[in-house]
Amino acid sequence: MYSVTEVLVALLIVILVWILLVSPLQQWYSKHSRFCHLMSELPGPKIVPLFGNTYEFVENPLNRAKWHLRRKLLTPAFHRSVLDSFQEVFSDKSDTLIKILEVERKKSESFDIAPFIWQCSLDIICETAMGTKMNIQESVSKNDTAYLKAISYAAESGLYRLLRPWLHPQLLFDISPRGRKYKKSVEIMHSFTNKVIQERKKEYLDSKRMEVNGFTDENEKFRIKKRRMAFIDVLIETTLGDGEEEKHHLTDEGIREEVDTFMFEGHDTTASGISWTIYLLGRHPDIQEEVAREINEVFGQESIKSTQKLSELRLLDRCIHESLRLYPSVPVIARELNKEVKLGGHTLPAGTELFIHMFYMHRDKELFPEPEKFNPDNFLPEACEKRPPYAFVPFSAGPRNCIGQKFAMQEAKTVVASIVKNYRIESIESPQELVLLMEMILRSQNGIKVRLHPRN
Ligand code: HEM
Repeated sequence: MYSVTEVLVALLIVILVWILLVSPLQQWYSKHSRFCHLMSELPGPKIVPLFGNTYEFVENPLNRAKWHLRRKLLTPAFHRSVLDSFQEVFSDKSDTLIKILEVERKKSESFDIAPFIWQCSLDIICETAMGTKMNIQESVSKNDTAYLKAISYAAESGLYRLLRPWLHPQLLFDISPRGRKYKKSVEIMHSFTNKVIQERKKEYLDSKRMEVNGFTDENEKFRIKKRRMAFIDVLIETTLGDGEEEKHHLTDEGIREEVDTFMFEGHDTTASGISWTIYLLGRHPDIQEEVAREINEVFGQESIKSTQKLSELRLLDRCIHESLRLYPSVPVIARELNKEVKLGGHTLPAGTELFIHMFYMHRDKELFPEPEKFNPDNFLPEACEKRPPYAFVPFSAGPRNCIGQKFAMQEAKTVVASIVKNYRIESIESPQELVLLMEMILRSQNGIKVRLHPRN
């Protein structure tokens, strides 16, 4: 044990060292460093000694690493023909959603529609990314949810860890209860994806062999020709195929990482966009009726299977854009400047980390005169032409923008059109009653409570 005097002397030494050494050094650095000087000129969070304002934000190191190769590999997976072939999945999963909503509507007069949309979106991404029917919507109603629980636990653990700096060191996270459960969830997902990779690779190689040797079984030939390409097949083809293009030899782990990227980036974001569109249509009955008329004129009694017809739903398209303006699924993105930039009369030095708040940018009065109003006319071509190109960026912009935006719009249009075709939506909470959670994805704390009235 130390005596009180020893403790006091130690404290005195620390204070003296601080006053004599650390503090002058910091002052000298602040005065002479151009970086610190420019930063101190900026309006923003308070700066504390040693840490600056980093206490406000913690960098996610996972954002850096393998970007160029990944982007190059993923681009062919979003070719128009691949997206067209996914329309059947979007439509079938929306039909399942309607069946499930019908049961729910009969059970309770009003309910939160967001989890149902989320499960539908997850079903869609499982089938389009891995080519596997997970039937999550049905399995939830049967309480068979191991995969669903694993993916939602892994997804929410990202933010949980980001907000707790003591869990950032890998070792501390791994031994924490959250880290251990996270590891189990990831194992469930990985063992599933690995199984799919093995099956799809085998099928791919078998079909190639049969193409060379001739098909002996006509049924098999038909099955292979008819099979839809999933993102995973595009990646396998890039790795094993014999086309002209440059080959990328991805390991199975590499393929799995890319599939995981789709799975994580591709379902929560789209589900949020769909949920907010439903919310806003449910608050604006006049606009909703116009949308319903448009859907009826284009599709009549047909199910939503034609991508050509889907592109004729122009008002719906504008409504989804307006929802993404008011409630962008990804409310904030981060960037690090690789060169000095002049912004609003201030100079931001290279190396600065920027947080771009789309939620607030999209409510700029000069760009959108009545910023709080749900006004799909903001997205008429003539209105868009008048605005600077970066006034509306829910999918970000530049080389690192969202690779999945066409996929997302096609899915959102199909799901929203299916719901509006079948129901008149009434959203219960007013915008003032909503509690917005600006997490990685923009959510409403109490979900999206609706009443659904069947249309005949
Ligand atoms: C409404 C739906 C969606 C919204 C609002 C959205 C938004 C965004 C945003 C803002 C980014 C940039 C993030 C950043 O810069 O930090 C991004 C990136 C990305 N998104 Fe989306 N996204 C949506 C749907 C999708 C879908 C459906 C997929 C895949 C099927 C997808 C795949 C990706 C990928 C792979 C990236 C990373 C791109 C790169 O770094 O090169 N997204 N998304």
